[in-house]
Amino acid sequence: MEIKKVGVIGCGLMGAGIAQVSAVAGYQVVACEVEQRFLDKGMANITGSLAKLVEKGKLSDEDRTATLSRLKGSTDLNDLADCNLIIEAIIENKKIKQETYIKLDQMCPPDTILASNTSSLSITELMAALSPSRQQRFFGLHFFNPVPLMKLLEAVRTILSDEGAYASVCEFGKKIGKAVVQTRDSSGFIVNRLLVPYLLDAIRGFEEGIGSIEDIDKGMMLGCGYPMGPFTLLDFVGLDTTYYISEIMFEEFREKRFASPALLKRMVLAGMLGRKSGRGFYDYSDPKNPKPMKLN
Ligand code: CAA
Ligand code: NAD
Repeated sequence: MEIKKVGVIGCGLMGAGIAQVSAVAGYQVVACEVEQRFLDKGMANITGSLAKLVEKGKLSDEDRTATLSRLKGSTDLNDLADCNLIIEAIIENKKIKQETYIKLDQMCPPDTILASNTSSLSITELMAALSPSRQQRFFGLHFFNPVPLMKLLEAVRTILSDEGAYASVCEFGKKIGKAVVQTRDSSGFIVNRLLVPYLLDAIRGFEEGIGSIEDIDKGMMLGCGYPMGPFTLLDFVGLDTTYYISEIMFEEFREKRFASPALLKRMVLAGMLGRKSGRGFYDYSDPKNPKPMKLN
């Protein structure tokens, strides 16, 4: 099946990036949000990201104009009815995601492919309430943050997947410039299965006093060649999102390495969500010069 029009639900950190790379690659895109103010914020992020790419000579001015002409915003889910592929990127909450899929299942033609950008939820469980034919056309498409810069896309199939539809989403991934790895439906797929325990262990190490936030970050950057230390990355991903992911993965595997450290939960409850709220393991009052937080 040929994918021509792509719907993206949620225009936050991830959804904005997914809508952007799809439009840059030539697809017609409709990005859907719950409220106009969130849509405006997501669209502004896309415009800002495209401007950076133009500035660096990675995108021509004409391509930017053409990209923006292919991109439409909406706060009405019905505007996605004629999309061939709909990618959901709303918060990591099973119930909210499932309610959205039920609406899409009723609204879309039988051949529409649905996909979730979930970091940790079971694809099989997410699609459980859908019609049997839609379940065959429901996949995980797991992008990485920041979407315009990160090369990887995990394409997740289930035991019910239609092979032709799976081939179509893998092909879509290649057309938007991603390196596609194929994986089965297991919580966290390939990357988060390995990355999440590492990030949580950094917090546990800090709680135990192995080093300061800055020194642990420096250790992993200079000692292992990672582009960001774990605390910079945690703030980048979002502490709320990391907390939801750890709860889901702990529920799935019942292993301590996936359990949420007490400090992570306390920070989320205190509204310290990382870069997006201006405060996490670092304080971003001066964005060019983040300062490690003093945590009592
Ligand atoms: N669009 C366009 N340009 C962007 C951008 C975006 N969204 N984000 C950053 N840039 C630009 C920056 O502005 C910068 O431009 P200047 O050089 O003009 O300042 C340029 O890209 C490079 O950025 P940096 O200077 O910060 O350079 P960098 O070499 O550190 O690259 C990075 C940035 C690619 C983000 C790199 O730091 C990196 O790879 N970090 C690790 C990210 C990572 O691990 N992501 C995965 C998170 S886990 C996940 O996504 C899965 C999950 O389910 C939670
Ligand atoms: P975010 O909080 O930045 O964005 C979520 C957006 O979804 C918000 O703008 C919100 O208004 C919108 N939304 C909520 N309910 C909606 C609905 N019913 N309809 C339309 N929009 C709705 O979150 P995010 O970091 O972009 O994460 C989104 C998804 O991507 C999650 O499943 C997360 O696990 C996954 N993910 C996140 C990262 C990351 O690094 N943050 C990486 C890969 C995957």
